[in-house]
Amino acid sequence: MSAKIIDGNVLAREIRAEWKARSDLLTEQGMQPGLAVIIVGSNPASSIYVRNKARACDEAGIHSEIHSFPESTNQNEVILRIRELNADPRIHGILVQLPLPNHFESREIIASISVEKDVDGFHLYNVGALVTGNTVFPPCTPFGVIKMLEKNNIAIEGRHAVVVGRSNIVGKPMALMLLERGATITICTSKTRNLADHTRRADILVVATGRPHMITSDMVKPGAAVIDVGINRMPDGKLTGDVDFESVKEVAGHLTPVPGGVGPMTISMLLCSTIAAAERALARA
Ligand code: GUN
Repeated sequence: MSAKIIDGNVLAREIRAEWKARSDLLTEQGMQPGLAVIIVGSNPASSIYVRNKARACDEAGIHSEIHSFPESTNQNEVILRIRELNADPRIHGILVQLPLPNHFESREIIASISVEKDVDGFHLYNVGALVTGNTVFPPCTPFGVIKMLEKNNIAIEGRHAVVVGRSNIVGKPMALMLLERGATITICTSKTRNLADHTRRADILVVATGRPHMITSDMVKPGAAVIDVGINRMPDGKLTGDVDFESVKEVAGHLTPVPGGVGPMTISMLLCSTIAAAERALARA
């Protein structure tokens, strides 16, 4: 058997057309959605992500602003800027690109974002909302994974989902979102003993560890949906995932490639959350 490869670029294009229509409708009503992205320092990967986010906003008719700070900036300057953006009626979403330089306390920075504008869903209020099934802003990467499963008619309810990875950005919210949709969840880490005993029981396997090719075909149940969230830069400069694509595609039922899988979906879901925030602002006006 050869897996159906889920093309994240095609899916992202398709859903961005839907978002554009919602965004245009808001603009006609005088509430063009607006996103502010804050970046501190010059991490090359972060700079590329931020540029891609701004380009995607343009294409979807969303106003976007990039607020760049040098690495030497102190935390209070960034918090002051966030407070200005919290009060700015043209801005509906505020995103602080992570990771921040080491001398920053990320928790305090994120805590200063207005909960109504926290499109990443990283503010503790929004984390609590997610835990209790009252999600306002689902974190964008796991939200993109859920959308991929839904668009490919991969059932979640009643099935066994295994998440490998426990980050606040992907692993933990991913597990909660699958749980909320009725899956039975196992959360593993890259250090889990006998990891294959767990992964082989997964109907849906989501991997986000940052360890290239750690999931091999013997670790996958035949027919499983395997979603690879890893993006690893190899010594030859190529990008690769946490799943050994070539061998796993002979066993899995569905598989996402890297690049061109989950990555494009993350930005699409950020656009979606920014539009949803603008829709809520219009409803409050
Ligand atoms: N860095 C890596 N992924 C993310 C994300 O989803 N949001 C933010 N703000 N930074 C990131």
